Amino acid sequence: EVIDAGGNVLLPGFVDLHTHLREPGREDTETIESGSAAAALGGYTAVFAMANTSPVADSAVITDHVYRRGQEVGLVDVHPVGAVTVGLQGEKLAEMGMMAAGPGRVRVFSDDGVCVSDPLLMRRALEYASSLGAVIAQHAEEPRLTRGAVAHEGPEAARLGLTGWPRAAEEAIVARDALLARDAGARVHICHASTAGTVELLKWAKGQGVAITAEVTPHHLLLDDSRLATYDAVNRVNPPLREASDVAALRKALRDGVIDCVATDHAPHAEQDKCCEFAAARPGMLGLETALAIVAQVAVEPGDITWRDVARVMSEKPAEIARLDDHGRPIRVGEPANLTLVDPDLGWTVRADDLASRSRNTPFAELEFRAKPVLTVLRGRITARDGVAAAPGAGERA
Ligand code: DOR
Ligand code: ZN
Ligand code: ZN
Repeated sequence: EVIDAGGNVLLPGFVDLHTHLREPGREDTETIESGSAAAALGGYTAVFAMANTSPVADSAVITDHVYRRGQEVGLVDVHPVGAVTVGLQGEKLAEMGMMAAGPGRVRVFSDDGVCVSDPLLMRRALEYASSLGAVIAQHAEEPRLTRGAVAHEGPEAARLGLTGWPRAAEEAIVARDALLARDAGARVHICHASTAGTVELLKWAKGQGVAITAEVTPHHLLLDDSRLATYDAVNRVNPPLREASDVAALRKALRDGVIDCVATDHAPHAEQDKCCEFAAARPGMLGLETALAIVAQVAVEPGDITWRDVARVMSEKPAEIARLDDHGRPIRVGEPANLTLVDPDLGWTVRADDLASRSRNTPFAELEFRAKPVLTVLRGRITARDGVAAAPGAGERA
């Protein structure tokens, strides 16, 4: 089939280093199938499924299952992230070698939902991951500084009487892990960088030659803590929405390459976990189906970055960080490709009810955007087209 791509932008398939698919354990909020459809619609051809499932993905039995289920669905490559800790913050390294060696080929390890906060455990995890050629993705939250915190520590939270989450809770871990990675000769990846101070620390560490990389989420690039005024629990997320000055620093860091890539932290939650009081709601926001539109709006449309840079921050860099060999490289003639076609001028409004995700917790509902992925191709098969995902297990051939 010949596709008329006139006026559209052709990009390599997007890679999301940070997706919560909730299977196993919370299939009422997302499944590998529904999350894969959301990913395909968002222009993604690979996603990394976070380890804080129930049970936690701390063994090859679980990571191999997640991988196989992703292949069965066939709408996006689901790469399991393995937990370095056992169960919920067990102080013992999980079977990382087994997870790396299995069919799921785990190459990104993370915590099991909180943060690898013990420095000795982190140091050992870095060394072990390094020996496997893997990277540790760090949630970067010092839990002793965030007890009870639900919003960014600042004037907005104070005004609303919400317990504040200080920037230092993130920055202390970023600084510590840069030093631990340096000493271990290992790679570390910082998840959802959210403060101007984190950007400064990344600049410093990279300048010292530390093998540190970082991602930023679409929500931290678009929203700030003025959103709290609505008291709407949809705005609760970890790390929290920060101040406008942080948002500006994050945008600049993405432009300058100090932050390497965009990752969604797609975090589906059930209605009952999001409709309550702000402080009682679960943290997290949907991200897969709106990421490209937000990156285009905050970075491409103002002229900060080009579409060529979008290929870098949404495909090439994340593929490089995870050492995916079939993504993020130039398209070769005659080879089944992973592609995303974006209409930069479509113009559309986010409707929560139209999302393929099983959950509805998007803070972007009713917002208008211009750009949207209109066609996604995984190894030569169409996985989404004009807002409709292909049937699971049977992609249409391009
Ligand atoms: O907001 C968040 N939600 N941040 C996290 O780190 C975890 C995630 C989740 O699993 O819901
Ligand atoms: Zn996190
Ligand atoms: Zn997350």
